[in-house]
Amino acid sequence: MARAQPQFSCTACGAVHRKWSGRCDACGAWNSIVEEAPLAAGPRAVGKGRSLTLTTLQAEEAPPPRATSGIDEFDRVLGGGLVAASAILVGGDPGIGKSTLLLQAVAAFAGRGLDCLYISGEEAAAQVRLRAQRLGLAGAPVRLAAETNLRDILATLDAERPGLVIIDSIQTMWLDSVESAPGSVAQVRASAHELVSFAKRRGVSVILVGHVTKEGQIAGPRVVEHMVDCVLYFEGERGHQFRILRAVKNRFGPADEIGVFEMTGRGLAEVPNPSALFLSERGEAAAGSVVFAGIEGTRPMLTEIQALVAPSTLTMPRRTVVGLDSGRLSTILAVLEARCGIPFAGLDVFLNVAGGMRVAEPAADLAVAAALLSAREDVAVPPETVVFGEISLSGALRPVAQAENRLKEAQKLGFTAAMLPRGAKLEGETGVALRAFADLTGFVGEVFGAG
Ligand code: TYD
Ligand code: MG
Repeated sequence: MARAQPQFSCTACGAVHRKWSGRCDACGAWNSIVEEAPLAAGPRAVGKGRSLTLTTLQAEEAPPPRATSGIDEFDRVLGGGLVAASAILVGGDPGIGKSTLLLQAVAAFAGRGLDCLYISGEEAAAQVRLRAQRLGLAGAPVRLAAETNLRDILATLDAERPGLVIIDSIQTMWLDSVESAPGSVAQVRASAHELVSFAKRRGVSVILVGHVTKEGQIAGPRVVEHMVDCVLYFEGERGHQFRILRAVKNRFGPADEIGVFEMTGRGLAEVPNPSALFLSERGEAAAGSVVFAGIEGTRPMLTEIQALVAPSTLTMPRRTVVGLDSGRLSTILAVLEARCGIPFAGLDVFLNVAGGMRVAEPAADLAVAAALLSAREDVAVPPETVVFGEISLSGALRPVAQAENRLKEAQKLGFTAAMLPRGAKLEGETGVALRAFADLTGFVGEVFGAG
């Protein structure tokens, strides 16, 4: 029988290595690789497996039944409610509000008749009760336990068979059959595996809370992400009251859907019209500020992109970005320089999405370029104007999807004009005056008189 090989895995990204090394090849983290106890290579029956029953793709499958919490922003991110026997991972920075969100969600589900259990491995029952009191949820019919021993938790779940159980957090859970310490990759992986297979076997939905590392990955094993049906991230800036729940994987609904909340003194409040909220802090038309008409998941959302460009005293001028990809900023700066002859050398560039929102769409390119130019030339973009469009490396502007939805949202919020790439597919009248451009050079010349 083959001897079980020792196995090493990275605590930051979960990658498995055959040897120990100081740096993980997969994610680049230092000192993150630890040895894990090998899987027991017990004797295995060798022989023929049973043959599977094969079916066809053709069947009248009804959509899965869903339980809704009534918290619309939460239900939508799940794809329209909670699917029975599904496993969901909610990741986010410590302190961002995961426990608060899930306590509110579980109370809402329980209030609608779903049998709910909340297991806290991080806080004592009294602490959870205090929070429930503060949130005005003390009367909700949620059953509570503070425990980290997974064997006991599974036995309880098996006896109780609730409809939904919250495990806060997966990093605190441990199985006595696994040798490593709680919080280690091996423990988290084994615990998550046990919970997810229990969910499937017994028809109980499980929501796992997971803390995230600075790199933006759920600490320890990313393998948890593969095991579950849905991965939701709860994000936001500490200093801001906005929180965004984002679906990054959903087997039962659209990924990229977001729910917007506001952290208040009495917990998380839903934000049904995020565009209005994100733009509410906007003052008079100022140089460097541009409103981007974006799409988040299935709904349009307007956000303000702000740029500041100032002479630099550094040999390597600063490029500071919050809420956007810094690589994308470099690309746009390079296109402006190479295709439009507008250099940013010797200038510090600061770019920011207002309100703690994060924008990942390439459609934001033109809005970013407009904000940069507006800041550099000290010329404000015409007021009541939204901007969107993708910039290609050649300097051409590419039309983006859902132009009509973007324009309708802009119109709803009182915007009267839009700057966008030529060739957008528009069917009806949107009530917004359109200025379409074929390339970035044309845009720069016409709007800023530069280039
Ligand atoms: P918490 O849900 O404990 O975060 P996580 O579980 O992600 O670690 O949230 C903690 C923060 O939320 C804490 O700093 C206080 C703040 N908070 C409010 O502002 N209002 C509230 O009603 C509650 C319960 C928490
Ligand atoms: Mg917590």
